Order: sequence, then C-alpha cells, then structure tokens
Amino acid sequence: MKIGNINFAQPFVSLAPLAGYGDVAFRRICRDYGASLTVTEMVSVKGLVYGNEKTECLLRLAPNETPSCVQLFGSEPEYFGKALALPELDKFDIIDINMGCPVPKVTKCGEGSALMRDEGRASEIVAACVACAKGRPVTVKHRLGISERSINAVSFAEKMQEAGAAAITVHGRTTAQGYSGVADWDKIADVARAVSIPVIGNGDVTDLCGIERAVKAGCSGVALGRGALGKPYVFAGEKKGPLLNVILKHLGYALEYFPEAVAVRTMRKHLCKYLAGVRGTKELRMQINAISDAETLVGALKKGLSEEC
Ligand SMILES: Cc1cc2nc3c(=O)[nH]c(=O)nc-3n(C[C@H](O)[C@H](O)[C@H](O)COP(=O)(O)O)c2cc1C
Repeated sequence: MKIGNINFAQPFVSLAPLAGYGDVAFRRICRDYGASLTVTEMVSVKGLVYGNEKTECLLRLAPNETPSCVQLFGSEPEYFGKALALPELDKFDIIDINMGCPVPKVTKCGEGSALMRDEGRASEIVAACVACAKGRPVTVKHRLGISERSINAVSFAEKMQEAGAAAITVHGRTTAQGYSGVADWDKIADVARAVSIPVIGNGDVTDLCGIERAVKAGCSGVALGRGALGKPYVFAGEKKGPLLNVILKHLGYALEYFPEAVAVRTMRKHLCKYLAGVRGTKELRMQINAISDAETLVGALKKGLSEEC
C-alpha cells in the first residue's frame, strides 16, 4: 500500500480523523497499538492563515506519528495554498482534505461535505494543495454524496484523482445520513473499481475483521473512527484491553501535551468511552466529571477499576 511515495505495511488500518477526540494523546496510544496512520482533527485553513491560537494545539504530533497526516478544511483554494506555505505544516508527511464533514456550521460555509456539490471547486482545492504541498501526497476524505438522490462518489473520486489526489478515504454514508444508518460498502466498492489510486474504506468497522470487508470492496485499507474510541487496542486486534493500564498510559500522554486541568478535562470524554458498558463503573463515571486534578483522577480510577477490567 502506497500513498504517493510513502509505503505502508499491509494490512493498512488507520484511525479516521475525529474532531473532539483525535487529540495528540489519543493518536499516540492508537499508534502504540499499531494504527497504520493517524490523522489530526480537522484544522481550518483560514484559522491557520489568520494565526488562530487553537490551531497550534491541533497541529501537535506524537513521536510515533511517522508518517504523519494533517487534515485541512476550508472552501477557498487560495487559502489552502496560503496555509501550506506556512512552516507549521512542514512537519506533516501527508496532507488530507476534509470533504466529508456534515456539520451545518461547516457545510453552510461551503466547507466539508458541501464540496461534494461542487466538483469543480473541490478539484481546484486539490490542485492548489498539490501545487503547494512541496512534493507531499495530498489525499481527500469524502462521503457518498449529499443525499441518497444525489450520490456522486464515483464521479467525485475520479475528479479528485484527476486533480492529483494520491489516495482517497470514502465514508460510506451521505451527508444527509450524518452518522446514522449503515455505511454502504457496495458503493465504496464502486469507487474502488473506478479509480486507480488507493481507496481507504470507512464506516462502521469496529475491529480488524473489517479488513476483510474492505478487501472484498477492493479497498487498499480501512479507517476506523468510533470503533477505536475507548478501545485503542483494537488496532492490535484485541477485543478487550487491560483497561486501567491503557487509561493510565493515555492520561500520562495527555499530561505530556496539555496543562493538567485541560488534560483531565480532555480525558473525561475519553473515559466516558473507555467505561461505556463496563459493569460496576456507574459511580466512577459520575465521580470523574467532578475531578479536576490528575492525582485525584488516578486515585479514583485505581479504586474504581480492578486490573482485570
Ligand atoms: C466525533 C466525530 C468527529 C469526527 N471528526 C471528523 C473530522 O474531523 N474529519 C473527518 O474527515 N471526519 C470526521 N469524522 C468522521 C469519521 O472520520 C468517520 O468518517 C465516521 O465516524 C465513520 O466512520 P466510523 O463508522 O468508523 O466511525 C468524525 C466522526 C465523529 C463521530
């Protein structure tokens, strides 16, 4: 499996970009367990160009994120070009463009999956990125189309390829579906048949058995999103992890990258995922939301979770 000139071992199983969850600490632990690639949370090209403070945090990289990938979003080709001229993006090996976000706040500005309505503009964005990427591969993540009645994933993917995309990730849902319903892997297969660049299939894969599904669909790899939340060990093919150890390691990473209060707050939402469905943790889950320092959090976790969890 190759994205541009970057080689990946097979099977290719990546962590899909996850705004709000795919922070540097979580990505690092997913890589520890063998994720082939991890992608930053989506970063606004305008935010980058205007020096928005929040973007600095989104651009942090873990030492094991090699090769690395940044996901950019926006709607104007020139801003992608300007963003790629910034030295902050030089450390990334792959430039991914978000053309799949269904959130109205994003789509109403013509960004994210709204670009699937405008193949011309989407192509211009890819071409602008390729021109400014200093030889690095540019990839696109998109959906099947805006709605069931306007599915254009095949023609869209063909246009992205023509514009210079080195690989695409296809999430097998429409914008209208958001994250509901089921991903349509037959339609992902239609895309994989139509283009010669690698296609990474995405949608509803929760374990490494999903690799088989992706291979059957003609994909070169698979990206896991929600299936990895609270389960970074899924990348090692494990159904269950040594929960307390995993959480403590994750918290340790979060403390390396964020001030303590931010790390603890960031961990709350991850802990919600780690502890979902774990019996006997109701009280712990309630406690966690009131804890704001790492020492108390570690104490509560050690008390509330046995090593066997
Ligand atoms: C909380 C959340 C945040 C997401 N953030 C992004 C994002 O920043 N960029 C992106 O391309 N997709 C984003 N996605 C979509 C996922 O990458 C993925 O395509 C989707 O969840 C389907 O895969 P899954 O069924 O494995 O979760 C997000 C999804 C969720 C649930």
